[in-house]
Amino acid sequence: MKRTHHCSQLRKEDSGKTVTLAGWIDRRRDHGGIIFIDLRDKHGITQVVFNPDHDAALHAKADSLRNEWVVSVVGKVRPRPDDMVNPNRATGEIEVLADELTVLNKAETSPLVMNDFTETSREGEDIRFRYRYLDLRRPWVQKNFLLKSRFLAATRRWFENNGFEDIETPVLCKSTPEGARDYLVPSRIHPGEFYALPQSPQTYKQLLMIAGFDRYYQIAKCFRDEDLRADRQPEFTQIDAEMSFVESADVRETFDDYVKTVFNEIWPERMKQVSFPLPTMSWHEAMLKYGSDKPDLRIDWEIADCTDIVKDCGFAVFRNVAASKGVIRGLAARGCVDLTRKAIDDLTAYVGRYGAKGLVWMRVKEGDEVETQVGKFFKTEELNALRDRVGAKAGDMMFFIAADERTAATAMGQLRLEVARQKNLLDPKVMKMLWVIDFPMFEWSDTEKRYMAMHHPFTAPVPEDLHKFAENDLGTMLSQSYDLVLNGVEVGGGSIRIHDPEVQKQAFKALGLSDEEVRAKFGYFVDAFKYGAPPHGGLAFGVDRVVATMEGIESIKDFIAFPKTAAAAGLMEECPSPVDPKQLLEVHISVRQG
Ligand code: AMO
Ligand code: AMP
Repeated sequence: MKRTHHCSQLRKEDSGKTVTLAGWIDRRRDHGGIIFIDLRDKHGITQVVFNPDHDAALHAKADSLRNEWVVSVVGKVRPRPDDMVNPNRATGEIEVLADELTVLNKAETSPLVMNDFTETSREGEDIRFRYRYLDLRRPWVQKNFLLKSRFLAATRRWFENNGFEDIETPVLCKSTPEGARDYLVPSRIHPGEFYALPQSPQTYKQLLMIAGFDRYYQIAKCFRDEDLRADRQPEFTQIDAEMSFVESADVRETFDDYVKTVFNEIWPERMKQVSFPLPTMSWHEAMLKYGSDKPDLRIDWEIADCTDIVKDCGFAVFRNVAASKGVIRGLAARGCVDLTRKAIDDLTAYVGRYGAKGLVWMRVKEGDEVETQVGKFFKTEELNALRDRVGAKAGDMMFFIAADERTAATAMGQLRLEVARQKNLLDPKVMKMLWVIDFPMFEWSDTEKRYMAMHHPFTAPVPEDLHKFAENDLGTMLSQSYDLVLNGVEVGGGSIRIHDPEVQKQAFKALGLSDEEVRAKFGYFVDAFKYGAPPHGGLAFGVDRVVATMEGIESIKDFIAFPKTAAAAGLMEECPSPVDPKQLLEVHISVRQG
């Protein structure tokens, strides 16, 4: 039963060898009394032949074989006849004429279609996740995990070669401040008290810098109880790193080298389009031109501010928004002059989801003439100025949104992407990578009625803005932070941290945290900075997002072996699930009856 080869290994040169293979039956076919089975393992498929003229009893035994049974076969390798060679398969030039067959296990009929990629697309997530072990057995699903494994191995090699130490940090910890909701674990020994699962190893890795480790990395599980989307799972993996005695440009330079080395090893073809150092773009520029802090640069369409052109125009909507400190943003959708009214109505509804109250469109006709339903409200010079500002040419459709700055930027950014998607312009094979830098330190929260940290509360402001704490000018403060953006996806992010306890105090104060709250939440952390903290900074990559985006796949679930559904449930293991009341009592949680 011990295998001599795997199922993608044998070649013409092996002809005449007696081999032992084992795997699953991918397919069984009967051809004029000869039985062919495709034997599959994670490497590939080898054709095994049972010929009644060669061994009648064995042929009869093979007749009972069914798909997905686990078997091992001993046989002799032989070349296939020339007209039977399968050029699409590594082992397509040979087959194995069986001499022995052992059924290692039978299998019930699989609820999933195992050997037909095209059929798979009809299966829902429900059934795929319920039988995930079968789903994962399929080569086109399995290949993502083989790739991710190679990516992580290359990652570890790079970190080892660059002086980073791999240090584990706790999973049962104190609440960490990444801004999502914590998963909590009740303590048995301390009634009424809880551990939190880490949203990231943030505080621990900073403590490791204070401990003098200089360069740390970890491939770490993170847990966040937030609303899930295609690129968000409640537990996910980060490549987490931290470095001492660095400034933000050093961190970016170091991780440019990481991306260059590791991504090139795993995706050599795709990385040919990427040159280093990776470009940087300020957060302000990204928000203005692309309406997003993770701009997708696969299309070069840029949003333009048009407020000054229309602030006194005859169109009341634009005039009023401009008068109330709002903005008017415009975009030329290249070659989209033919969008139908229905399509525009749908786009209007689409931007409505991002808070835009409407969408003005203007067609640019032959001779660069502007045609629009709202034309009567504008002077010809104004229409021409808008056209020139957004850079529209004959054949383009112009769109305009008037709103407060954040809404206008975001809605326009989403419109830009939606039109590009509809026109099939976002090619997953094109790779556009950049660092977005200089994020604001704080973001006003209307619901909380206070400033929140845009990254996390340990992010350092740019030195030029430190004085703004005293002046209470928090809204315009910039931070020393950076996100790595790949085709419109935030695949990583980090910052230089505050290492001066005085600055940290001011940052906590700006966030509205009282001394008592700071003590209760981060006492241990704040204390550590009194004992000699080096300047430090770092970042974390979302592993699942990196591999999915590099592969041009939207959902990170395709790279998580046992993912959760949008409702944060494990369908296969049926979790979360009720537990024995006795278990609850042990952790001091009382259950209400009825
Ligand atoms: P941040 O919160 O930006 O930073 O996370 C870093 C990266 O992790 C990925 N990511 C996720 N992936 C899948 N599902 C999620 N729910 C999810 N949330 C985040 C993203 C993101 O860029 N401690 C800081 C890093 C630092 O400052 O060093 C942190 O966690 O790709
Ligand atoms: P393949 O694409 O390599 O699986 O082969 C195509 C089909 O040709 C198989 O499904 C078999 O039914 C048939 N076939 C393959 N090899 C042979 C062979 N040596 N003799 C006869 N038929 C074959």
